[in-house]
Amino acid sequence: MSEMPAEDGAVPEEVRGRLALALDLDDLVEAHRMAVQLRPWFGVAKVGLELFSADGPDAIGALRDLGYRVFLDLKLFDIPTTVNRSTTVLGSLGVEYLTLHALGGVDMLRAGVEGLHDGADRAGLDDPTALAVTVLTSDDGAPPHIVPNRVRLALEGGCGGLVLAAEDLQTARELAPRLTRVVPGIRLSGAPRHDQARAATPQEAVANGADLLVIGRAVTRAEDPAAAAAAVAAAI
Ligand code: C5P
Repeated sequence: MSEMPAEDGAVPEEVRGRLALALDLDDLVEAHRMAVQLRPWFGVAKVGLELFSADGPDAIGALRDLGYRVFLDLKLFDIPTTVNRSTTVLGSLGVEYLTLHALGGVDMLRAGVEGLHDGADRAGLDDPTALAVTVLTSDDGAPPHIVPNRVRLALEGGCGGLVLAAEDLQTARELAPRLTRVVPGIRLSGAPRHDQARAATPQEAVANGADLLVIGRAVTRAEDPAAAAAAVAAAI
């Protein structure tokens, strides 16, 4: 993996390593341009359904070449065999994080985790982390027992982390203290929330125990993305 030179030192690695840039774009050229511009503030690049649908594994390779750790956010949800076969392929691509939907249940999660580890192992890569998505941060109607149930499913399924809204962090800390906590729906104070019903500021998320913040439109749709990225980094 080649590192970007010079400007890489803009913020301490411990800050950058906690910020994941959501590249929700359908074009790798544009995503690459944004990834280069925002590399000083982000250590992780998140490839979602949009970019993976457009450019697949090429997007992962291109971001790894820029020195990013890659977070592949496909929220897999299918029968265990299909998920296992898919994660075996994805594990060999060099992703560091992969999301599976906890709604798929323990057998599906376990099958996905095993495939991910096998795929990475066969390719001689470090062990990636399977993240269980609890409830979408756009959903403010889930009954209160859902998050604790899904945290337990993630634990039983062998996942290494959870994706959850900032307000669910305490539940995760209590039930699964050793799992990595990843929080999307981050907005700077007073900024537009878009479709995120359960948003939080970077300060709130970190204070409540988030390990990794997913930052999308707060930076990518800002008038000045670099300035917005600097503001998020300064906030944590
Ligand atoms: O632009 P914004 O910061 O709202 O982007 C949030 C990102 O996090 C999107 O890529 C979305 O797919 C992802 N995400 C989410 N809620 C979850 C899991 C992932 O918003 N529960």
